[in-house]
Amino acid sequence: MQWFMLPLYPSIIASKAYEARAKVHSALKAWYEAGYDQKTGADVVRTRAALMRDHGLKPADFCKLEMSIMHGATSNTIPTLYWLATFIFLRLKLVEELRTDALALLGDKSDTGKGIVEIPVSRIEETCPLLVSCWKEAIRLASQPITVRRVARDFELADPDTGRQYFFRKGADVMLPATVLHRLPSVWGADADEFNPRRFMAASKSEEDEANKKRRGAYMPFGGGKHMCPGRHFALAEILGLMTALILGYEIVGLKEENVEMANAKVGEAIAKPTAAGQGGKVQLRRRTGWEEVEWKFLV
Ligand code: HEM
Repeated sequence: MQWFMLPLYPSIIASKAYEARAKVHSALKAWYEAGYDQKTGADVVRTRAALMRDHGLKPADFCKLEMSIMHGATSNTIPTLYWLATFIFLRLKLVEELRTDALALLGDKSDTGKGIVEIPVSRIEETCPLLVSCWKEAIRLASQPITVRRVARDFELADPDTGRQYFFRKGADVMLPATVLHRLPSVWGADADEFNPRRFMAASKSEEDEANKKRRGAYMPFGGGKHMCPGRHFALAEILGLMTALILGYEIVGLKEENVEMANAKVGEAIAKPTAAGQGGKVQLRRRTGWEEVEWKFLV
């Protein structure tokens, strides 16, 4: 990926990736030209393709754009799910607490240990605040995007703590590395590098307002402004929906802290992956007693 982004003959310096991308382009082009997007495509695919056709774009052009959606939709979501599941399942007491909330989410269907269990994804945010806090905390630690913005006009900015003035010249590029912001002890406290499941759960409205004031500008896992990630609500729904099923119906056996280690994210990735040796080691994902026969249905 990094090699791809260098403006230097990618067909030579990243030939394998270049050829693979050309293969996907050509398959997508044929698929769109045959009109499968309108016949069998998901709503999002169909609507996007229709919009691009309306604006005069041909499948040969927009199939390239559609590849970036696949990249965005998978490259960050999968490692985020990994970190959330790992941080949670390393803490058995936390799993128990989250199970209590997840059962409350199922409501009067909570005694359904078999058959189809329906997870009302749209109610997770109000019913499972601890899980939502774990999600925010997992992405705080794992998210390492560098948001880049071009300065539109000359201006000066003062550091509120030191009073030092900074001059931003029109046309310059400013890089905002979330890794630094997400681990500032002055904002997050002395345990900034630790996973604190309750960090985003305030005891009261005033405590929440106070915390938000401090964190404003220091928490940007999805970038910011006009180009803020448009997939963030979708990512929250799919990851928290699946996590609820994992918490209710499964256990992860053999997961050890010493086998988990985060690598640095590479160019083009917003979320860090684990190092080769830090992927959790040999673990077993198994159905919990009483939940062996369950099939999951996610309601949105
Ligand atoms: C946990 C999962 C995800 C994370 C952490 C994430 C993070 C990001 C970040 C940091 C940006 C750059 C924003 C900026 O420059 O201000 C971005 C942009 C984008 N993301 Fe995501 N993303 C996630 C999931 C998704 C999903 C599921 C989709 C699509 C279904 C998606 C589609 C996009 C698109 C299209 C952009 C470009 C937006 C623009 O330039 O206007 N992302 N994402």
